[in-house]
Amino acid sequence: MSTEPGAIGLGSTLADRYELVAEVARGAVGDVFEALDRVEGSKVAVKVLRAEYLADESMRRRFRREGAVLKALDHPAIVRLLELGINDDGVVFLVTEYVEGETLAERLSRGSLPIEEVDALIDALCDGLGAVHQHGVLHGDLKPANVVWPEDGAPRLVDFGASKILGLDRLTATGEVSGTPAYMAPEVLTGKADVDQRIDVYGLGVVLYEALSAKKPFHDGHVGRLMMKIDAGDCLPIDTVADIPDAIARLVGKAMHRHKQER
Ligand SMILES: Nc1ncnc2c1ncn2[C@@H]1O[C@H](COP(=O)(O)OP(=O)(O)O)[C@@H](O)[C@H]1O
Ligand SMILES: [Mg+2]
Repeated sequence: MSTEPGAIGLGSTLADRYELVAEVARGAVGDVFEALDRVEGSKVAVKVLRAEYLADESMRRRFRREGAVLKALDHPAIVRLLELGINDDGVVFLVTEYVEGETLAERLSRGSLPIEEVDALIDALCDGLGAVHQHGVLHGDLKPANVVWPEDGAPRLVDFGASKILGLDRLTATGEVSGTPAYMAPEVLTGKADVDQRIDVYGLGVVLYEALSAKKPFHDGHVGRLMMKIDAGDCLPIDTVADIPDAIARLVGKAMHRHKQER
């Protein structure tokens, strides 16, 4: 059964197999649905490239890139890819395991995490990022909304839509900053060359800062001023906004150092 491009939504079935049963999130590039895999009888997550991008070859490439990167990564702290699919009408979609739970962003909206949970977060994200980096890949968009936390397990990284393959992708950010400014490393925001895995170390530092304090280190309604604050490292030190062990405070400060050689 084919579906008109653009008509993909609740009730659609992709590749005669994945029935979209609930909307999970609407993103800039793709929409995420909870779906029923009719073959396995299981619940899965399906990310579909938005209709307005279906004819955009660079978006399609970016989407396939996300699938290819996820396929290479098989790690308990990274969401598992089940299929990179294409519908007979050209709609591209990614099928991943469905992670029952909430995102770290949702959790943090209720307040900071207790230290044991921060420990679990550090373990999972360091492990997961280690695997990503070992594959020569950058995640490129670490933030609480891209960490899903199952009710009964350890947190997992999702969303490799901004990922880059070292040595293959252009890594200078001039003119094409993709990601969320509040979590982006200074060298990305200022379009410096030689961007490397340390942008993820920085993003991890910001995520941990927020997990410990329920506050973003940098905020400003004006994006230019926000970028200047990030570039200058102009934020309250984590140990002034959260009552935490020194070792954790040092780790966060080091991870989010404005100079990557200090991270
Ligand atoms: N496998 C999954 N299981 C459960 N929820 C998911 C899954 N993948 C993504 N989500 C949810 O969908 C949201 C958007 O997915 P994401 O891959 O981050 O796309 P986007 O590029 O639109 O940010 C996530 O923030 C999370 O809430
Ligand atoms: Mg996302």
